[in-house]
Amino acid sequence: MASIPSSDHQPINTTDAWRALAAHAATTVDGDELDLTRLFDTDPERAARFTVEAAGLYVDFSKNLVTEETIGLLADLADAADVAAKRDAMFSGRRINTTEDRAVLHTALRRPATDVVEVEGEPGVNVVDEVHEVLGRMSAFANRVRSGEWTGATGQAIETVVNLGIGGSDLGPAMAYRALRPFARPPHSHWDLDVRFVSNIDPTDIHEALLDLDPETTMFIVVSKTFSTIETLTNAKTARHWLVDALGAEAVGRHFVAVSTNEERVADFGIDTTNMFGFWDWVGGRYSVGSAVGLSLMLAIGPDGFREFLSGMHDVDLHFQSAPAAENLPMLIGLLGIWYGNFLGAETQAVLPYSDHLSRFPAYLQQLDMESNGKRVTKDGRPVTVDTGPIVWGEPGTNGQHAFYQLIHQGTRLIPADFIGFIHPSDPIGDHHDLLMANFFAQTEALAFGGNSGSDESDLQRAFPGNRPTTTIVAERLDPRTLGALIALYEHKVFTMGAVWGINSFDQFGVELGKVLATAITPELQSTSDLAHDASTNALITRYRNHRAG
Ligand code: F6P
Repeated sequence: MASIPSSDHQPINTTDAWRALAAHAATTVDGDELDLTRLFDTDPERAARFTVEAAGLYVDFSKNLVTEETIGLLADLADAADVAAKRDAMFSGRRINTTEDRAVLHTALRRPATDVVEVEGEPGVNVVDEVHEVLGRMSAFANRVRSGEWTGATGQAIETVVNLGIGGSDLGPAMAYRALRPFARPPHSHWDLDVRFVSNIDPTDIHEALLDLDPETTMFIVVSKTFSTIETLTNAKTARHWLVDALGAEAVGRHFVAVSTNEERVADFGIDTTNMFGFWDWVGGRYSVGSAVGLSLMLAIGPDGFREFLSGMHDVDLHFQSAPAAENLPMLIGLLGIWYGNFLGAETQAVLPYSDHLSRFPAYLQQLDMESNGKRVTKDGRPVTVDTGPIVWGEPGTNGQHAFYQLIHQGTRLIPADFIGFIHPSDPIGDHHDLLMANFFAQTEALAFGGNSGSDESDLQRAFPGNRPTTTIVAERLDPRTLGALIALYEHKVFTMGAVWGINSFDQFGVELGKVLATAITPELQSTSDLAHDASTNALITRYRNHRAG
Protein backbone atom coordinates (compact mmCIF):
# COMPACT_ATOMS: atom_id res chain seq x y z
CA MET A 1 0.00 0.00 0.00
CA ALA A 2 1.26 3.52 -0.79
CA SER A 3 2.51 5.35 2.27
CA ILE A 4 0.75 8.56 3.27
CA PRO A 5 2.82 11.61 2.16
CA SER A 6 4.57 13.29 5.09
CA SER A 7 2.73 16.55 4.30
CA ASP A 8 -0.53 14.82 5.28
CA HIS A 9 0.66 14.20 8.81
CA GLN A 10 0.64 17.91 9.55
CA PRO A 11 -2.81 19.53 9.78
CA ILE A 12 -2.93 21.79 6.74
CA ASN A 13 -4.05 24.81 8.75
CA THR A 14 -0.88 24.67 10.86
CA THR A 15 1.38 25.18 7.84
CA ASP A 16 3.03 28.54 7.16
CA ALA A 17 1.35 28.59 3.75
CA TRP A 18 -2.13 28.34 5.29
CA ARG A 19 -1.34 30.99 7.91
CA ALA A 20 -0.02 33.31 5.20
CA LEU A 21 -3.28 32.94 3.28
CA ALA A 22 -5.34 33.56 6.43
CA ALA A 23 -3.38 36.76 7.08
CA HIS A 24 -3.72 37.75 3.43
CA ALA A 25 -7.48 37.18 3.55
CA ALA A 26 -7.80 39.32 6.68
CA THR A 27 -5.85 42.24 5.27
CA THR A 28 -7.28 42.18 1.76
CA VAL A 29 -10.89 41.84 2.84
CA ASP A 30 -10.62 44.41 5.66
CA GLY A 31 -8.58 46.74 3.47
CA ASP A 32 -11.11 46.44 0.67
CA GLU A 33 -8.31 45.34 -1.66
CA LEU A 34 -10.47 42.72 -3.38
CA ASP A 35 -12.81 45.20 -4.99
CA LEU A 36 -13.15 44.08 -8.60
CA THR A 37 -13.96 47.53 -9.97
CA ARG A 38 -10.81 48.93 -8.41
CA LEU A 39 -8.70 45.91 -9.40
CA PHE A 40 -9.73 46.32 -13.05
CA ASP A 41 -9.38 50.12 -12.99
CA THR A 42 -5.86 49.97 -11.65
CA ASP A 43 -4.67 47.15 -13.88
CA PRO A 44 -5.63 47.37 -17.57
CA GLU A 45 -3.87 44.04 -18.16
CA ARG A 46 -5.83 42.15 -15.52
CA ALA A 47 -8.13 40.30 -17.92
CA ALA A 48 -5.20 39.11 -20.03
CA ARG A 49 -2.99 38.25 -17.07
CA PHE A 50 -5.66 36.22 -15.33
CA THR A 51 -6.65 34.19 -18.38
CA VAL A 52 -5.23 30.76 -19.14
CA GLU A 53 -5.89 28.77 -22.30
CA ALA A 54 -5.24 25.03 -22.55
CA ALA A 55 -6.78 21.91 -24.09
CA GLY A 56 -9.28 24.01 -26.06
CA LEU A 57 -10.57 25.77 -22.94
CA TYR A 58 -10.21 29.55 -22.56
CA VAL A 59 -10.56 30.26 -18.85
CA ASP A 60 -10.87 33.82 -17.57
CA PHE A 61 -10.14 33.97 -13.82
CA SER A 62 -9.95 37.78 -13.73
CA LYS A 63 -13.40 38.29 -12.18
CA ASN A 64 -12.34 36.37 -9.06
CA LEU A 65 -11.60 38.07 -5.74
CA VAL A 66 -7.86 37.59 -6.03
CA THR A 67 -4.67 39.50 -6.64
CA GLU A 68 -1.44 38.11 -8.03
CA GLU A 69 -0.30 37.76 -4.44
CA THR A 70 -3.33 35.58 -3.68
CA ILE A 71 -2.49 33.26 -6.56
CA GLY A 72 1.15 33.09 -5.40
CA LEU A 73 0.09 32.20 -1.86
CA LEU A 74 -2.35 29.57 -3.12
CA ALA A 75 0.46 28.06 -5.21
CA ASP A 76 2.59 27.98 -2.03
CA LEU A 77 -0.24 26.13 -0.31
CA ALA A 78 -0.31 23.58 -3.13
CA ASP A 79 3.45 23.13 -2.58
CA ALA A 80 3.03 22.74 1.17
CA ALA A 81 0.40 20.06 0.58
CA ASP A 82 2.58 18.26 -1.99
CA VAL A 83 -0.17 18.44 -4.59
CA ALA A 84 2.23 17.84 -7.50
CA ALA A 85 3.80 14.78 -5.85
CA LYS A 86 0.35 13.38 -5.00
CA ARG A 87 -0.79 14.00 -8.59
CA ASP A 88 2.26 12.13 -9.90
CA ALA A 89 1.56 9.26 -7.50
CA MET A 90 -1.98 9.00 -8.90
CA PHE A 91 -0.89 9.02 -12.54
CA SER A 92 1.84 6.44 -11.91
CA GLY A 93 -0.45 3.82 -10.36
CA ARG A 94 0.39 4.19 -6.66
CA ARG A 95 -2.33 2.88 -4.35
CA ILE A 96 -3.41 6.32 -3.22
CA ASN A 97 -6.94 5.17 -2.30
CA THR A 98 -5.50 3.98 0.99
CA THR A 99 -8.73 2.95 2.74
CA GLU A 100 -9.53 0.50 -0.06
CA ASP A 101 -5.89 -0.22 -0.96
CA ARG A 102 -6.50 0.67 -4.61
CA ALA A 103 -4.74 2.62 -7.30
CA VAL A 104 -6.64 5.52 -8.87
CA LEU A 105 -6.10 5.26 -12.60
CA HIS A 106 -9.05 6.73 -14.48
CA THR A 107 -6.36 8.70 -16.34
CA ALA A 108 -5.10 5.39 -17.81
CA LEU A 109 -8.47 5.02 -19.58
CA ARG A 110 -7.53 7.82 -21.96
CA ARG A 111 -3.85 7.12 -22.55
CA PRO A 112 -2.55 6.24 -26.01
CA ALA A 113 -1.98 2.54 -26.63
CA THR A 114 1.80 3.01 -26.61
CA ASP A 115 1.88 4.14 -22.95
CA VAL A 116 2.77 1.85 -20.08
CA VAL A 117 1.23 2.10 -16.60
CA GLU A 118 1.41 -0.53 -13.89
CA VAL A 119 -0.49 -0.67 -10.61
CA GLU A 120 1.81 -0.49 -7.60
CA GLY A 121 2.61 -4.04 -6.50
CA GLU A 122 1.53 -5.59 -9.81
CA PRO A 123 4.63 -5.44 -11.99
CA GLY A 124 4.51 -6.70 -15.56
CA VAL A 125 0.80 -5.92 -16.10
CA ASN A 126 0.39 -2.89 -18.34
CA VAL A 127 -3.10 -1.59 -17.60
CA VAL A 128 -3.07 0.48 -20.81
CA ASP A 129 -3.00 -2.77 -22.81
CA GLU A 130 -6.07 -3.98 -20.92
CA VAL A 131 -7.83 -0.65 -21.49
CA HIS A 132 -7.27 -0.82 -25.25
CA GLU A 133 -8.32 -4.46 -25.42
CA VAL A 134 -11.71 -3.51 -23.89
CA LEU A 135 -11.96 -0.38 -26.06
CA GLY A 136 -11.43 -2.58 -29.11
CA ARG A 137 -14.21 -4.98 -28.04
CA MET A 138 -16.55 -2.08 -27.27
CA SER A 139 -15.84 -0.54 -30.68
CA ALA A 140 -16.51 -3.79 -32.53
CA PHE A 141 -19.75 -4.25 -30.61
CA ALA A 142 -20.83 -0.63 -31.16
CA ASN A 143 -20.17 -0.92 -34.89
CA ARG A 144 -22.26 -4.08 -35.09
CA VAL A 145 -25.20 -2.51 -33.25
CA ARG A 146 -24.97 0.80 -35.13
CA SER A 147 -24.82 -0.91 -38.51
CA GLY A 148 -27.76 -3.18 -37.77
CA GLU A 149 -25.56 -6.28 -38.04
CA TRP A 150 -26.29 -7.11 -34.39
CA THR A 151 -29.95 -8.03 -34.29
CA GLY A 152 -32.39 -8.87 -31.55
CA ALA A 153 -33.83 -12.33 -31.09
CA THR A 154 -36.35 -11.90 -33.89
CA GLY A 155 -33.80 -10.62 -36.40
CA GLN A 156 -34.64 -6.92 -36.08
CA ALA A 157 -31.96 -4.25 -35.68
CA ILE A 158 -31.65 -2.50 -32.31
CA GLU A 159 -33.37 0.89 -32.22
CA THR A 160 -33.30 1.74 -28.52
CA VAL A 161 -30.62 1.19 -25.90
CA VAL A 162 -31.62 1.44 -22.23
CA ASN A 163 -28.77 2.01 -19.77
CA LEU A 164 -29.61 0.55 -16.35
CA GLY A 165 -27.26 1.93 -13.69
CA ILE A 166 -27.09 4.50 -10.91
CA GLY A 167 -24.60 7.03 -9.54
CA GLY A 168 -21.39 6.82 -11.52
CA SER A 169 -22.91 4.07 -13.65
CA ASP A 170 -25.60 6.49 -14.83
CA LEU A 171 -24.69 10.15 -14.36
CA GLY A 172 -21.59 10.12 -16.58
CA PRO A 173 -23.09 8.46 -19.66
CA ALA A 174 -26.48 10.17 -19.17
CA MET A 175 -24.86 13.60 -18.91
CA ALA A 176 -22.53 12.95 -21.84
CA TYR A 177 -25.27 11.52 -24.08
CA ARG A 178 -27.43 14.58 -23.42
CA ALA A 179 -24.40 16.81 -24.12
CA LEU A 180 -23.43 15.09 -27.36
CA ARG A 181 -26.80 14.22 -28.86
CA PRO A 182 -26.11 16.33 -31.95
CA PHE A 183 -23.18 13.96 -32.65
CA ALA A 184 -25.40 10.90 -32.35
CA ARG A 185 -27.13 11.48 -35.66
CA PRO A 186 -24.63 11.89 -38.45
CA PRO A 187 -26.04 14.01 -41.29
CA HIS A 188 -27.54 12.02 -44.21
CA SER A 189 -27.71 8.89 -42.04
CA HIS A 190 -30.83 6.79 -41.77
CA TRP A 191 -29.56 5.35 -38.54
CA ASP A 192 -31.56 6.53 -35.55
CA LEU A 193 -30.59 4.96 -32.21
CA ASP A 194 -32.37 6.26 -29.16
CA VAL A 195 -30.57 5.94 -25.80
CA ARG A 196 -32.44 6.09 -22.50
CA PHE A 197 -31.27 6.00 -18.91
CA VAL A 198 -33.04 4.34 -16.02
CA SER A 199 -31.50 4.78 -12.59
CA ASN A 200 -34.11 5.25 -9.89
CA ILE A 201 -35.64 2.33 -8.02
CA ASP A 202 -38.89 4.32 -8.15
CA PRO A 203 -40.94 2.13 -10.53
CA THR A 204 -41.96 5.23 -12.47
CA ASP A 205 -38.49 5.47 -13.95
CA ILE A 206 -38.47 2.12 -15.70
CA HIS A 207 -42.22 2.18 -16.32
CA GLU A 208 -42.01 5.40 -18.30
CA ALA A 209 -38.81 4.39 -20.11
CA LEU A 210 -40.37 1.16 -21.40
CA LEU A 211 -43.86 2.50 -22.10
CA ASP A 212 -43.47 3.03 -25.85
CA LEU A 213 -40.67 0.52 -26.52
CA ASP A 214 -40.77 -2.60 -28.64
CA PRO A 215 -38.91 -5.53 -26.98
CA GLU A 216 -37.80 -6.79 -30.41
CA THR A 217 -35.72 -3.65 -31.03
CA THR A 218 -34.61 -2.84 -27.47
CA MET A 219 -31.24 -3.58 -25.88
CA PHE A 220 -30.43 -3.21 -22.18
CA ILE A 221 -26.98 -2.40 -20.84
CA VAL A 222 -26.78 -3.29 -17.16
CA VAL A 223 -24.01 -1.13 -15.73
CA SER A 224 -22.77 -1.73 -12.21
CA LYS A 225 -19.20 -1.80 -11.00
CA THR A 226 -20.07 -4.10 -8.12
CA PHE A 227 -23.12 -5.73 -9.73
CA SER A 228 -24.71 -5.67 -6.30
CA THR A 229 -26.47 -2.30 -6.31
CA ILE A 230 -30.10 -2.86 -5.37
CA GLU A 231 -31.52 -0.16 -7.67
CA THR A 232 -29.75 -1.44 -10.75
CA LEU A 233 -30.41 -5.11 -10.10
CA THR A 234 -34.09 -4.45 -9.38
CA ASN A 235 -34.46 -2.46 -12.60
CA ALA A 236 -32.54 -5.14 -14.51
CA LYS A 237 -34.86 -7.88 -13.20
CA THR A 238 -37.92 -5.85 -14.19
CA ALA A 239 -36.45 -5.27 -17.65
CA ARG A 240 -35.71 -8.97 -18.03
CA HIS A 241 -39.31 -9.89 -17.10
CA TRP A 242 -40.57 -7.37 -19.64
CA LEU A 243 -38.39 -8.87 -22.36
CA VAL A 244 -38.96 -12.53 -21.46
CA ASP A 245 -42.73 -12.01 -21.30
CA ALA A 246 -42.62 -10.80 -24.88
CA LEU A 247 -39.85 -12.87 -26.48
CA GLY A 248 -39.05 -15.82 -24.17
CA ALA A 249 -36.01 -16.56 -22.01
CA GLU A 250 -33.75 -17.48 -24.94
CA ALA A 251 -33.96 -13.85 -26.15
CA VAL A 252 -31.97 -12.51 -23.16
CA GLY A 253 -28.58 -13.12 -24.78
CA ARG A 254 -29.43 -10.88 -27.77
CA HIS A 255 -30.93 -8.07 -25.68
CA PHE A 256 -28.80 -7.83 -22.52
CA VAL A 257 -25.17 -6.86 -22.12
CA ALA A 258 -23.34 -6.00 -18.91
CA VAL A 259 -20.64 -3.58 -17.84
CA SER A 260 -19.01 -4.53 -14.55
CA THR A 261 -15.86 -5.48 -12.68
CA ASN A 262 -17.63 -8.55 -11.29
CA GLU A 263 -17.83 -11.39 -13.83
CA GLU A 264 -19.22 -13.92 -11.36
CA ARG A 265 -22.23 -11.79 -10.42
CA VAL A 266 -22.92 -10.97 -14.07
CA ALA A 267 -23.03 -14.72 -14.83
CA ASP A 268 -25.24 -15.35 -11.77
CA PHE A 269 -27.68 -12.75 -13.07
CA GLY A 270 -27.95 -14.72 -16.31
CA ILE A 271 -26.03 -12.49 -18.70
CA ASP A 272 -23.59 -14.31 -20.96
CA THR A 273 -20.13 -13.04 -19.96
CA THR A 274 -19.08 -12.96 -23.60
CA ASN A 275 -21.48 -9.98 -23.71
CA MET A 276 -19.79 -8.34 -20.75
CA PHE A 277 -17.39 -5.39 -20.93
CA GLY A 278 -15.07 -5.15 -17.97
CA PHE A 279 -13.29 -2.45 -16.08
CA TRP A 280 -11.12 -2.42 -13.00
CA ASP A 281 -11.18 -1.66 -9.29
CA TRP A 282 -8.84 1.28 -9.98
CA VAL A 283 -11.65 3.13 -11.78
CA GLY A 284 -13.94 4.83 -9.25
CA GLY A 285 -17.64 4.88 -10.19
CA ARG A 286 -17.78 8.68 -10.47
CA TYR A 287 -14.59 8.64 -12.59
CA SER A 288 -15.76 5.86 -14.90
CA VAL A 289 -17.42 7.50 -17.91
CA GLY A 290 -14.26 6.94 -20.00
CA SER A 291 -14.38 3.18 -19.29
CA ALA A 292 -16.89 0.62 -20.57
CA VAL A 293 -19.39 2.48 -18.38
CA GLY A 294 -19.53 4.86 -21.35
CA LEU A 295 -20.71 2.07 -23.69
CA SER A 296 -24.13 3.69 -24.22
CA LEU A 297 -22.37 6.93 -25.18
CA MET A 298 -20.14 5.04 -27.62
CA LEU A 299 -23.21 3.38 -29.14
CA ALA A 300 -24.70 6.84 -29.65
CA ILE A 301 -21.73 8.82 -30.98
CA GLY A 302 -19.73 5.94 -32.43
CA PRO A 303 -16.25 4.64 -31.59
CA ASP A 304 -14.46 7.54 -33.30
CA GLY A 305 -16.48 10.09 -31.36
CA PHE A 306 -15.79 8.21 -28.13
CA ARG A 307 -12.04 8.22 -28.82
CA GLU A 308 -12.22 11.99 -29.41
CA PHE A 309 -13.95 12.28 -26.03
CA LEU A 310 -11.08 10.33 -24.42
CA SER A 311 -8.55 12.52 -26.24
CA GLY A 312 -10.10 15.64 -24.73
CA MET A 313 -9.66 14.12 -21.27
CA HIS A 314 -6.08 13.17 -22.08
CA ASP A 315 -5.31 16.74 -23.26
CA VAL A 316 -6.23 18.01 -19.81
CA ASP A 317 -4.35 15.17 -18.09
CA LEU A 318 -1.17 16.24 -19.88
CA HIS A 319 -1.77 19.88 -19.00
CA PHE A 320 -2.47 19.03 -15.34
CA GLN A 321 0.74 17.01 -15.18
CA SER A 322 2.99 19.65 -16.70
CA ALA A 323 1.76 23.24 -16.17
CA PRO A 324 3.07 25.24 -13.21
CA ALA A 325 0.44 25.83 -10.52
CA ALA A 326 -0.23 29.46 -11.49
CA GLU A 327 -1.06 28.39 -15.07
CA ASN A 328 -2.57 25.02 -14.34
CA LEU A 329 -6.31 25.16 -15.02
CA PRO A 330 -7.54 22.36 -12.71
CA MET A 331 -5.16 23.44 -9.95
CA LEU A 332 -6.24 27.07 -10.24
CA ILE A 333 -9.92 26.21 -10.13
CA GLY A 334 -9.29 23.92 -7.17
CA LEU A 335 -7.17 26.46 -5.32
CA LEU A 336 -9.80 29.16 -5.89
CA GLY A 337 -12.29 26.74 -4.34
CA ILE A 338 -10.03 26.50 -1.29
CA TRP A 339 -9.69 30.31 -1.18
CA TYR A 340 -13.44 30.88 -1.19
CA GLY A 341 -14.39 27.91 1.00
CA ASN A 342 -11.67 28.07 3.62
CA PHE A 343 -10.70 31.75 3.72
CA LEU A 344 -13.68 33.81 2.53
CA GLY A 345 -16.52 31.73 3.99
CA ALA A 346 -18.28 30.43 0.86
CA GLU A 347 -20.22 27.21 1.40
CA THR A 348 -21.34 26.43 -2.11
CA GLN A 349 -20.07 26.43 -5.67
CA ALA A 350 -22.45 27.17 -8.53
CA VAL A 351 -21.87 25.69 -11.99
CA LEU A 352 -23.85 27.52 -14.66
CA PRO A 353 -23.56 26.10 -18.18
CA TYR A 354 -24.99 28.25 -20.95
CA SER A 355 -25.94 25.22 -23.00
CA ASP A 356 -29.06 23.16 -22.57
CA HIS A 357 -27.03 20.18 -23.70
CA LEU A 358 -25.15 20.49 -20.40
CA SER A 359 -28.32 20.35 -18.32
CA ARG A 360 -27.07 17.27 -16.44
CA PHE A 361 -23.53 18.60 -15.97
CA PRO A 362 -24.23 20.17 -12.54
CA ALA A 363 -25.74 16.88 -11.31
CA TYR A 364 -22.75 15.00 -12.68
CA LEU A 365 -20.38 17.38 -10.87
CA GLN A 366 -22.38 17.01 -7.68
CA GLN A 367 -21.48 13.34 -7.48
CA LEU A 368 -17.93 13.92 -8.67
CA ASP A 369 -17.22 16.62 -6.10
CA MET A 370 -19.49 15.84 -3.17
CA GLU A 371 -18.93 12.06 -3.10
CA SER A 372 -15.18 12.63 -3.48
CA ASN A 373 -14.59 15.47 -1.05
CA GLY A 374 -17.49 15.16 1.37
CA LYS A 375 -15.09 13.83 4.01
CA ARG A 376 -14.41 14.68 7.65
CA VAL A 377 -11.34 12.54 8.33
CA THR A 378 -7.87 12.92 6.85
CA LYS A 379 -5.96 10.14 5.13
CA ASP A 380 -4.16 9.31 8.34
CA GLY A 381 -7.43 8.92 10.22
CA ARG A 382 -7.67 12.19 12.14
CA PRO A 383 -10.65 14.57 12.04
CA VAL A 384 -10.04 17.33 9.53
CA THR A 385 -9.29 20.73 11.03
CA VAL A 386 -10.80 22.78 8.19
CA ASP A 387 -13.97 22.65 6.11
CA THR A 388 -13.84 20.31 3.12
CA GLY A 389 -16.01 19.79 0.01
CA PRO A 390 -18.39 22.53 -1.11
CA ILE A 391 -22.06 22.06 -1.93
CA VAL A 392 -22.12 21.97 -5.74
CA TRP A 393 -25.23 23.04 -7.61
CA GLY A 394 -26.45 24.70 -10.75
CA GLU A 395 -28.78 24.84 -13.72
CA PRO A 396 -28.30 25.92 -17.29
CA GLY A 397 -28.53 29.60 -18.20
CA THR A 398 -30.67 31.41 -18.99
CA ASN A 399 -33.21 29.34 -16.98
CA GLY A 400 -31.34 29.93 -13.73
CA GLN A 401 -31.43 33.68 -14.29
CA HIS A 402 -35.20 33.63 -13.89
CA ALA A 403 -35.05 31.49 -10.77
CA PHE A 404 -32.13 31.76 -8.34
CA TYR A 405 -29.74 34.41 -9.72
CA GLN A 406 -31.55 37.01 -7.58
CA LEU A 407 -29.81 35.53 -4.55
CA ILE A 408 -26.42 35.45 -6.24
CA HIS A 409 -26.73 39.13 -7.23
CA GLN A 410 -28.33 40.63 -4.15
CA GLY A 411 -28.34 37.99 -1.40
CA THR A 412 -26.08 38.00 1.64
CA ARG A 413 -24.03 34.93 0.77
CA LEU A 414 -20.82 34.63 -1.19
CA ILE A 415 -21.47 32.24 -4.09
CA PRO A 416 -18.55 31.68 -6.46
CA ALA A 417 -19.87 30.59 -9.84
CA ASP A 418 -18.35 28.93 -12.90
CA PHE A 419 -19.93 30.09 -16.16
CA ILE A 420 -19.45 27.72 -19.12
CA GLY A 421 -20.28 28.86 -22.65
CA PHE A 422 -19.53 28.10 -26.29
CA ILE A 423 -18.73 30.24 -29.31
CA HIS A 424 -20.76 28.09 -31.71
CA PRO A 425 -24.22 26.70 -30.95
CA SER A 426 -24.96 22.98 -30.95
CA ASP A 427 -28.26 23.65 -32.71
CA PRO A 428 -28.08 26.83 -34.81
CA ILE A 429 -31.53 28.43 -35.05
CA GLY A 430 -32.07 32.12 -35.78
CA ASP A 431 -30.33 34.41 -33.32
CA HIS A 432 -30.96 32.23 -30.26
CA HIS A 433 -27.29 31.62 -29.62
CA ASP A 434 -26.28 35.30 -29.70
CA LEU A 435 -29.11 36.07 -27.28
CA LEU A 436 -27.96 33.24 -25.03
CA MET A 437 -24.35 34.40 -25.07
CA ALA A 438 -25.29 38.05 -24.56
CA ASN A 439 -26.81 36.90 -21.28
CA PHE A 440 -23.73 34.83 -20.50
CA PHE A 441 -21.46 37.87 -20.83
CA ALA A 442 -23.92 40.23 -19.14
CA GLN A 443 -24.27 38.10 -16.04
CA THR A 444 -20.57 37.90 -15.18
CA GLU A 445 -20.26 41.64 -15.88
CA ALA A 446 -23.20 42.47 -13.60
CA LEU A 447 -21.98 40.11 -10.89
CA ALA A 448 -18.49 41.61 -10.91
CA PHE A 449 -19.20 45.29 -11.29
CA GLY A 450 -22.79 45.72 -10.13
CA GLY A 451 -24.80 48.81 -10.95
CA ASN A 452 -27.66 51.13 -9.98
CA SER A 453 -25.91 52.19 -6.80
CA GLY A 454 -27.68 55.02 -5.12
CA SER A 455 -28.11 56.55 -1.74
CA ASP A 456 -31.80 56.66 -0.90
CA GLU A 457 -33.69 53.61 0.31
CA SER A 458 -35.48 52.76 -2.93
CA ASP A 459 -32.16 52.94 -4.78
CA LEU A 460 -30.70 50.50 -2.30
CA GLN A 461 -33.42 47.95 -3.07
CA ARG A 462 -32.46 48.14 -6.71
CA ALA A 463 -28.70 48.35 -6.30
CA PHE A 464 -26.40 45.60 -7.48
CA PRO A 465 -23.41 45.63 -5.16
CA GLY A 466 -21.20 43.64 -7.54
CA ASN A 467 -17.95 42.01 -6.41
CA ARG A 468 -19.51 38.56 -6.82
CA PRO A 469 -16.80 36.23 -8.11
CA THR A 470 -17.06 34.23 -11.30
CA THR A 471 -14.80 32.12 -13.48
CA THR A 472 -15.66 32.12 -17.19
CA ILE A 473 -14.90 29.04 -19.28
CA VAL A 474 -15.31 29.41 -23.03
CA ALA A 475 -14.76 26.73 -25.69
CA GLU A 476 -15.35 26.76 -29.43
CA ARG A 477 -18.18 24.23 -29.43
CA LEU A 478 -19.59 21.46 -27.27
CA ASP A 479 -18.12 18.48 -29.10
CA PRO A 480 -16.79 15.14 -27.77
CA ARG A 481 -13.25 16.47 -27.29
CA THR A 482 -14.40 19.58 -25.43
CA LEU A 483 -16.73 17.60 -23.18
CA GLY A 484 -13.86 15.23 -22.33
CA ALA A 485 -11.69 18.24 -21.48
CA LEU A 486 -14.37 19.76 -19.24
CA ILE A 487 -14.82 16.49 -17.35
CA ALA A 488 -11.08 16.04 -16.75
CA LEU A 489 -10.82 19.70 -15.72
CA TYR A 490 -13.27 19.12 -12.89
CA GLU A 491 -11.88 15.68 -11.99
CA HIS A 492 -8.48 17.23 -11.36
CA LYS A 493 -9.99 20.26 -9.64
CA VAL A 494 -11.59 17.85 -7.15
CA PHE A 495 -8.26 16.01 -6.84
CA THR A 496 -6.40 19.26 -6.10
CA MET A 497 -8.79 20.24 -3.33
CA GLY A 498 -8.72 16.79 -1.73
CA ALA A 499 -4.92 16.79 -1.90
CA VAL A 500 -4.73 20.13 -0.10
CA TRP A 501 -7.06 18.92 2.65
CA GLY A 502 -5.17 15.63 2.96
CA ILE A 503 -8.33 13.54 2.57
CA ASN A 504 -9.00 10.43 0.48
CA SER A 505 -11.14 11.64 -2.44
CA PHE A 506 -11.64 8.12 -3.78
CA ASP A 507 -13.70 6.20 -1.23
CA GLN A 508 -17.38 6.77 -0.33
CA PHE A 509 -18.18 5.05 2.96
CA GLY A 510 -20.75 7.76 3.69
CA VAL A 511 -23.25 6.13 1.33
CA GLU A 512 -23.26 2.78 3.17
CA LEU A 513 -25.31 3.30 6.34
CA GLY A 514 -28.48 4.30 4.51
CA LYS A 515 -28.20 1.20 2.30
CA VAL A 516 -27.84 -1.09 5.36
CA LEU A 517 -30.84 0.47 7.11
CA ALA A 518 -33.00 0.28 3.96
CA THR A 519 -32.16 -3.41 3.64
CA ALA A 520 -33.37 -3.96 7.20
CA ILE A 521 -36.54 -1.88 6.71
CA THR A 522 -37.64 -3.50 3.41
CA PRO A 523 -39.06 -6.70 4.99
CA GLU A 524 -40.61 -4.65 7.80
CA LEU A 525 -42.79 -2.79 5.33
CA GLN A 526 -44.43 -6.03 4.28
CA SER A 527 -44.92 -7.54 7.74
CA THR A 528 -46.53 -6.67 11.06
CA SER A 529 -43.42 -7.43 13.10
CA ASP A 530 -42.47 -5.26 16.07
CA LEU A 531 -40.37 -2.27 15.16
CA ALA A 532 -37.20 -1.39 17.03
CA HIS A 533 -36.21 1.95 15.49
CA ASP A 534 -36.39 5.36 17.11
CA ALA A 535 -39.89 6.68 17.91
CA SER A 536 -40.08 8.85 14.79
CA THR A 537 -39.05 6.11 12.37
CA ASN A 538 -41.37 3.58 14.09
CA ALA A 539 -44.32 5.97 13.72
CA LEU A 540 -43.56 6.68 10.07
CA ILE A 541 -43.25 2.99 9.18
CA THR A 542 -46.43 2.18 11.10
CA ARG A 543 -48.35 4.89 9.27
CA TYR A 544 -47.01 3.62 5.95
CA ARG A 545 -48.02 0.03 6.79
CA ASN A 546 -51.52 1.02 7.93
CA HIS A 547 -52.29 3.29 5.00
CA ARG A 548 -50.79 0.91 2.47
CA ALA A 549 -52.90 -1.94 3.83
CA GLY A 550 -55.97 0.30 3.76
O1 F6P B 1 -23.91 4.46 -3.58
C1 F6P B 1 -22.81 5.07 -4.15
C2 F6P B 1 -22.19 4.28 -5.24
O2 F6P B 1 -21.37 3.30 -4.71
C3 F6P B 1 -21.43 5.18 -6.18
O3 F6P B 1 -20.16 5.47 -5.73
C4 F6P B 1 -21.48 4.41 -7.45
O4 F6P B 1 -21.19 5.22 -8.55
C5 F6P B 1 -22.90 3.92 -7.42
O5 F6P B 1 -23.15 3.63 -6.08
C6 F6P B 1 -23.20 2.73 -8.29
O6 F6P B 1 -22.41 1.63 -7.95
P1 F6P B 1 -22.30 0.38 -8.92
O7 F6P B 1 -21.68 0.84 -10.20
O8 F6P B 1 -21.43 -0.61 -8.20
O9 F6P B 1 -23.67 -0.16 -9.15
